[in-house]
Amino acid sequence: MKTVAIIQARMGSTRLPGKVLADLGGKPVLAWVVRAARAALGIDDVWVATSTESSSDPVANWCKVNGVHVHRGSENDALDRYVGAAKAGGAQIIVRLTADCPLLDAAVIAQTIRLRSVMGVDYASNIDPPTWPDGLDCEVLTAQALFAAAAEATRSSDREHVTSFVRNNRDRFSADTLISPLPGLTGERWTLDTPEDLALLSALAKRLSPDHPPSYLEVLAVLDREPQLRDLNRSATRNSGFVASVTAEKITTNRRYNRSQRLIERAERVVPTGSQTFSKSKLQFPPGASPLFLTHGDGGRVYDVDGNEYIDLVSALLPNVLGYRDPDVDLAIRRQLNRGISFSLPTTLETELAERLTRHIPCAEMVRFGKNGTDATSAAVRLARAATKRDRLILLGYHGWQDWYIGATTRNLGVPVAVSALSHLAPYGDLDAIEALFRTHPDEFAAVMLEPMNTVEPPPGYLQGLKDLVHRHGALLIFDEIITGFRWSIGGAQAIYGVTPDLACFGKAMGNGMPISAVAGPAKIMRLMEDIFYSGTFGGETLSLAAAIATIDKIENANVIEYLWATGAELKTQALARIVKADLADLLGLTGAAPWAILTFKDHPEASKEAIKTVFLREMIAAGVLINASHNVCFAHGSADVARVLAAYDHALAVLRETLDRGDIDRRLGNQVIRPVFSVRAAS
Ligand SMILES: Cc1ncc(COP(=O)(O)O)c(C=O)c1O
Repeated sequence: MKTVAIIQARMGSTRLPGKVLADLGGKPVLAWVVRAARAALGIDDVWVATSTESSSDPVANWCKVNGVHVHRGSENDALDRYVGAAKAGGAQIIVRLTADCPLLDAAVIAQTIRLRSVMGVDYASNIDPPTWPDGLDCEVLTAQALFAAAAEATRSSDREHVTSFVRNNRDRFSADTLISPLPGLTGERWTLDTPEDLALLSALAKRLSPDHPPSYLEVLAVLDREPQLRDLNRSATRNSGFVASVTAEKITTNRRYNRSQRLIERAERVVPTGSQTFSKSKLQFPPGASPLFLTHGDGGRVYDVDGNEYIDLVSALLPNVLGYRDPDVDLAIRRQLNRGISFSLPTTLETELAERLTRHIPCAEMVRFGKNGTDATSAAVRLARAATKRDRLILLGYHGWQDWYIGATTRNLGVPVAVSALSHLAPYGDLDAIEALFRTHPDEFAAVMLEPMNTVEPPPGYLQGLKDLVHRHGALLIFDEIITGFRWSIGGAQAIYGVTPDLACFGKAMGNGMPISAVAGPAKIMRLMEDIFYSGTFGGETLSLAAAIATIDKIENANVIEYLWATGAELKTQALARIVKADLADLLGLTGAAPWAILTFKDHPEASKEAIKTVFLREMIAAGVLINASHNVCFAHGSADVARVLAAYDHALAVLRETLDRGDIDRRLGNQVIRPVFSVRAAS
């Protein structure tokens, strides 16, 4: 397989014109890159791909003088330029390097080439997710993948950035990533984009051996000796060129879901509802007007099987608190993966994570882990029943799929009547309703379990009043913090509202997408775990434990909670302003707290609230925002994402307004309306 390094180089650069031929330690930047490419094991030939513009003549001349093959092509269509170079060089495997990375490490390039061939994938890189210093970028792909991308990619950012089409179509192109063995390198910036970068690179070039291409360890050794060098270019951001070209894109509303529609038919033959999770199933999205399967996510965005990109306001139903493929959490998972997954005895990761939870959660002296939130809520119920020797429960909100909860709802098929009879639902914010239940069944209630907040703020004194009431009747107060935990604050809503429950349940965001949950409480109740039975094969599975430790550390160290509140508030305020401006405030609202603002819909003389919801979601999705019933913001949602969501609001509200004005929506939508299967919270 002929493997050809193709180095992308042109003289045009807005921030640093002519940078590829700038002098670095006595030779041009491009010479550094060519030298590294030639030194990399596995590379058969080296080509430079530059533009046909006369401004790039110096690059072509330099190549000629120095015996480097050169191909010239379109200035803006870099993808096409790569195809030209690949064909000219007879490449079967293409190693994409860019001329703004003078400190490329030949060994890292060689490892990426080897990774692609060992794994047999279409595409391998060391940038997706980034774990190496910015400036060691290396991508290896097959000629078939490159040619397919060139034939199909239509977005300007895909043409300009060569590999983004391949990376964003994971269902078609298999991929793998070379992960750095050393953590904490993503903050290093060794790429050349600004005069400040040139200052750093020049300083490094002076200190590195002129005899061979540098290894990244040599560069790190220089920076370890003189850490102040990093100040020379500290202000620049990673991959700013790509961010700029993506955010400049206009919102489009022409998404297609053909593959999703085909794949759901296949899925439904073997998977009831075609989904493992009710709220991710097709029942929850506008029929025929929504993606049904995703291929991958990146930060705050997801990509569907038809190749559409979305800002993701579902966030995997809230586990995705930091963003998809968070580099710190993923690194923790990969490092643990090297050691093994599930073991024959506990690991100390269990203790490490438990210690963190007891530090952050007011009610937690001891904790036990589970996989789903339902594990934690069911364990809390069993503890409460064991502690009080009573059976009945009062429940507010949603608590999972087990008999003791779902039996009390309208979706109770398959639950024994005797079990359902023990569970009583009560409205949020109404102490009298709970008092009445206690009086109807004196000394029979083990616990009151509630989400401390979902659609509305607790009325003043409500949570403390509830705690007093519950204790007066000899029962326990359980906070279901599956959503509020690691979102309202690390310690959940109890840390914010200053009311400490007897037991609390956590899940969702705890592992940034890995399956892990926890029940927490004081030692005197938690020690009953020694007598009851709460035990599962996978309770101590280590990838999730490692992920949770890394997630909690990052939430703490990166001020994630403040970010969620601020971003959520910005989005909620701006969206509400648009709803008011569109004169739709009577029909559409946003309630709840900023980190989890919940959409509400009301009936209109011309349309049911279900029809209104269907039209609104359909148009938000068409405009590139995957949304269900709420704004589930994550740490990776940046200002460009917020702007895209608001642009989608503008579009969806305009369509809704027009649709309402035309009237008779329900009849026109027919069976295209999302029908609620059951409602568990007042606003939903
Ligand atoms: C408040 C609350 N409690 C419990 C659960 C159940 O968690 P899981 O679906 O992980 O079992 C959920 C899930 O949505 C939830 O929102």
